[in-house]
Amino acid sequence: MKLLHLDSSALGANSVTRELSAAIVTRWQEALPELRVEYRDLDVDPVPHLTGRSLAKADPIEAAAAERVLQQFLAADVVVIGAPFYNFSIPSTLKAWIDRIAISGRTFRYTAEGVQQGLAGGKRVIVASGRGGQYGDGNPADFQEAYLRQVFGFLGVHDVEIVRAEGVAYSPQHRADALAAAHAAIGQPLRKAA
Ligand SMILES: Cc1cc2nc3c(=O)[nH]c(=O)nc-3n(C[C@H](O)[C@H](O)[C@H](O)COP(=O)(O)O)c2cc1C
Repeated sequence: MKLLHLDSSALGANSVTRELSAAIVTRWQEALPELRVEYRDLDVDPVPHLTGRSLAKADPIEAAAAERVLQQFLAADVVVIGAPFYNFSIPSTLKAWIDRIAISGRTFRYTAEGVQQGLAGGKRVIVASGRGGQYGDGNPADFQEAYLRQVFGFLGVHDVEIVRAEGVAYSPQHRADALAAAHAAIGQPLRKAA
């Protein structure tokens, strides 16, 4: 079984989502010692932004690297993503990664009947969400968690779990309480893995 662990926070050791994503992965490793974990820090090792040259595969080295990103996603049974709330959305580094995995004919397709079909189903995605403010569920200002659910659902991945710490910018106490609640909310790895 393979787990892909991604972080995208620009806040380094002070990151809420890095702390939570690491805790989620540790929980999985404890439950499944044979689990194979691959890690990419999209902040220190970003995927290049998608450009016309990328789409044209003008640079064979970039094209090969992009294919490796896609294959790594396709091979993963579980994807754990540290996804901060930045400017109402996700970090551009995480968006750049998404641009490399949302590929027509590979992870989704349109049919002649005009129906869209996700081709990357059967995975479980766990999002470690960190938010400075308090937005709750279903907030129209949320282009972070709602966006990630939309993208993965589009690719056929409907098992998306969110572990959220929010209101972390209000005060150190808010941050500590939100983190404690988020740690307590980390789900049971074996819920579906068994
Ligand atoms: C560049 C940047 C943009 C941010 N934008 C928002 C925002 O729009 N709304 C909000 O509530 N918090 C915002 N925050 C606060 C983050 O959501 C908060 O720091 C959260 O902990 C981010 O996760 P991280 O600690 O893993 O980076 C922003 C922080 C940064 C660094």
